[in-house]
Order: sequence, then C-alpha cells, then structure tokens
Amino acid sequence: MTTISIERSTNTKKKPPQDQLGFGIHYTDHMFVMDYSTEKGWHEPRIIPYQPIVLDPAAKVFHYGQTIFEGLKAYKTADGRIQLFRPRDNFRRMNRSNDRMSVPEIDIDLAIDALEQLVAVDHDWIPDLEGTSLYIRPFVIATEPLLGVSPSEHYKFMIIMSPVGAYYPEGINPVKIHVESNYVRAVVGGVGEAKTAGNYAAALKSQQEAKEHGYTQVLWLDGKQHKYIEEVGSMNVFFKIGGTVYTPALNGSILAGITRNSVIQLLKHWGVPVEERVLSIDELYEAGRNGTLEEAFGTGTAAVISPIGEMNWNGEKLIIGEGKTGQLSKSVYDTLTGIQTGAVEDPFGWTQQVEVK
Ligand code: COI
Repeated sequence: MTTISIERSTNTKKKPPQDQLGFGIHYTDHMFVMDYSTEKGWHEPRIIPYQPIVLDPAAKVFHYGQTIFEGLKAYKTADGRIQLFRPRDNFRRMNRSNDRMSVPEIDIDLAIDALEQLVAVDHDWIPDLEGTSLYIRPFVIATEPLLGVSPSEHYKFMIIMSPVGAYYPEGINPVKIHVESNYVRAVVGGVGEAKTAGNYAAALKSQQEAKEHGYTQVLWLDGKQHKYIEEVGSMNVFFKIGGTVYTPALNGSILAGITRNSVIQLLKHWGVPVEERVLSIDELYEAGRNGTLEEAFGTGTAAVISPIGEMNWNGEKLIIGEGKTGQLSKSVYDTLTGIQTGAVEDPFGWTQQVEVK
C-alpha cells in the first residue's frame, strides 16, 4: 500500500459554533493532495495543512474546464464513533466522471485510505449537533500550463473538508422549485452524467432568475424536447403519485446520485412501490391537477432529503401536499439520516467506520 505522508498544522483554526455552520463556508485544518504527470502517474500522496495552492495562469482547468468533483459526508455517532456514508461509491463515480472528462483514473483503495486518514487527522472538526456533518469534497483539476485543447498531462487530486449545516436555508422544510423551460443543463451524449464543474456553471443563470422570482432551485427538463423531468440543480428528484414513487431513469444526462440510489433501495426494503422511468412534466402536472400527486422530494449528499412544496412551470403553480413535508419524505429523511449518524441500524452495509489512532 502506498504511504501517505502527514504534515500536521501548527496553527489550528478556531471552530465555528455548530448552530451557525451554513454550507461550505469553513474549512478544516488539513487537506489531501496528490499529483499526476504522464511520466510518473499519480504520485506523492500527502496530507498537509489547509492552504492556498499555486497554479500557472495557463493551467488547463482555467481555460477548458477539465475538472471533476465529488461530495460525501462524515458523521459523529452519539457514542463518539466516526462514520462515512458509502465512500467507495463516490470514488467509483469519480472514476466514471474522470473517464468522461479524459482525466486519469484514481486508485480507489488509495483514495479511501487518504480519506480515512484525513478524517482521522481532523476528527475534532466533525460536528455532532442534529442536522450537521462534515462535508467532504474530493476533486481533480488539470494543471498543465498549455493552451492547446487536449487532455492535460498534469493533474492535482485534492480532498478538502467543511463542517456543514443544512444546504438550503429551508432545512427540512419544503422548497419551491422553478421548472426551467428555456435553458438546458445537459443533453444525452454530453457530460450531464459526469460530476464536472461546467454542468453547475451552466445552471447558474437559470438559478439566478429563479431566485429573483422566489424559487430556491431549478427543475431541469430534457435538453431535446423540454418535456421529460431530469433533475434539480443539486439534487435528484422523486414524486409519489397514486401510492407509487417515481424517479427519472438514468439516461446519460442525469447524475447517478448515491443518495438517489440509497432512497430507491430503502423504499424497496420497505415494500413501497418505486419505479425508475421517463416522466414527463405534463404527466406530473396532470397528477397534480387530478389530486394523485401526493409528495415530491429531492435527494443529494448536500441537500439530504429536501421536500418540494411548490413548483412553477410556465407560470402555472402546483402546490404539493398543501406545501407541507409529506409523511414518506419525513420517514425517508429520518431513516437515512439515522443510518448515517448511527442512530438507526444499517441493514445495507452503507456506513464505514473511521478509526482514530
Ligand atoms: C452534493 O450533494 O454533494 C453536491 O455535489 C451538490 C453540490 C453542488 C452542493
């Protein structure tokens, strides 16, 4: 196994109060870095004090967006244990994104080792107040200083960590979603399935316009016909219609969410009918009009389970479940966060303990 060097910070930062964490504002004392060159492959894995990095202004990441990221969380259990939620699945997805973006694959065992050691070094940054966790952001950037359009020959793989509270200011209360009819996020054959920066940059303008009209997020429709539901800005999406839960099937332009997959498995485990299939916005609105649309919620690492109380599509408002958090959304939230924080038994083997030596 490759040895990861550790340089400890001599200057530990003051921790923010746990009830005022926000999302992605504060960073822990250390970070992980590893470099890549075509001659050496991935090399020099190291944990060092959290610090700025120096890059050449010609680095390819700045010009052609060759970069990918992941998001996962570490939790502290009531009896003081530390656990990660499905970390191997995040690194597997990272390699799928790497492949799509012509980034060299990373060794998943090394990435897990790096992650566990980093979390152990900064373990006292994991908050334990209800609704908080340590958000972990692994990412890769293309660092070669060359303006020709071709895959970079140099990269950095890094992991940074941030103690967080709720992603949306609404917390577990329902969010309002604007259904986007003009802009598109991704098309089949594009990079929608990869967790790459450009997908998020492409979404900003629509998100900004939605916000100006009082909506928290944007629901994306398919890029070709503007007809089929894909995902919300930072979440996958689920709808309970006539007793069955539907979520858009993965089609190459939708992010294969790990929370999405966990919710599908959880619902199946409970015997709740769940279907992954194409779902049109017309069908959803029809269910809303005829009273069979019971609940809607988004899923994501950052957002966890976020109930959707209102949607707006071309000016037509749809109030879902009287704008309140539905019973199933609440059960899914309670069970999933219970498994993540160790309060509920994990029959799926999703949680992985981190030992602090
Ligand atoms: C996550 O849920 O981890 C995400 O990547 C969403 C992020 C854009 C905040």
